[in-house]
Amino acid sequence: MKKGFFITFEGGDACGKSTQVKLFKEYVATRTDKDNFVFIREPGGTILGEKIRTLLLNFEDDSPVPKAELFLYLASRVQLFEKVIKPALSAGKIVVADRFYDSTIAYQGFAREIFSAKEILKLHKLLLGNFSPNLTFYLKIKPEIAFKRKKAGEKLDRMEKEDISFHQKVYDGYEYISKKEKKRFVVLDATKSIEEIHNQIILKVEKLLAE
Ligand SMILES: Nc1ncnc2c1ncn2[C@@H]1O[C@H](COP(=O)(O)OP(=O)(O)OP(=O)(O)O)[C@@H](O)[C@H]1O
Ligand SMILES: [Mg+2]
Repeated sequence: MKKGFFITFEGGDACGKSTQVKLFKEYVATRTDKDNFVFIREPGGTILGEKIRTLLLNFEDDSPVPKAELFLYLASRVQLFEKVIKPALSAGKIVVADRFYDSTIAYQGFAREIFSAKEILKLHKLLLGNFSPNLTFYLKIKPEIAFKRKKAGEKLDRMEKEDISFHQKVYDGYEYISKKEKKRFVVLDATKSIEEIHNQIILKVEKLLAE
C-alpha cells in the first residue's frame, strides 16, 4: 500500500458500517503499526463537524430544508478534510471513514432529488478538488432487510425516520456509484454474518498493506 491511503465504508442505513468500522478498529489495535491509522466519521470528526452532526441528525426544533441539509453535510466534510484528512494523508497515515461523499450522492442526490448526482459531484469538486477515497467498502443490502435490524424502541435519527421509498432511492444511488466506480468499490454482501464480512475486509486490507 502506498503511503497516505483513504478507506471509506458506505451503504444505506443499518447496513453495518459502524459495526464493521468498530471491528476493523479493534483489529488495527492489534497491529504494530496501529498508530498509522486514523478513524473518522461523517458527518462529524471535528468539533465543528460534531455540532453540525447534531443539527443534521437530532435537532428537532427546526429541521433543515433539503438544500440546507446538503450544505451542512458539505460544511462538515470540508472542515474534516482540511483539518484532519489532508494532514493525516500527507503524514502518510491510513485514514478510515464511516461515510464520505458517496453518501451525499446517494442521500441528497438520489433520494432527496434536489440536485443530480453530477451536480453534487461538481459541488464536491469545487470544495475538495479531485479528492476521492482510494478504496470504498460498500455494504450492499436491500433497505427492507436492513430495516429489520433496527431494534424496536431504538431512537431513530432524522434520516432513519424517512420511509422505505426514500431508502430504496438511496440504494439505487449506491448501485449507480458502484457501477461507475468499479475500481474503487469493493462490494460486500451485507446480509452475510458480521464475522464473515469482517474477515473479507481484513483480507482485502492485508493484501493492500503487503503491496
Ligand atoms: N452482518 C450483519 N448481520 C446482522 N446484523 C447486523 C450485521 N451488521 C450489523 N448488524 C446490526 O444491524 C444494526 C445496524 O448496524 P450499524 O449501526 O453498524 O449500521 P450502520 O450502517 O452504521 O447504520 P447507520 O447508517 O444508521 O449509521 C446493529 O444492530 C448491528 O448490530
Ligand atoms: Mg453508523
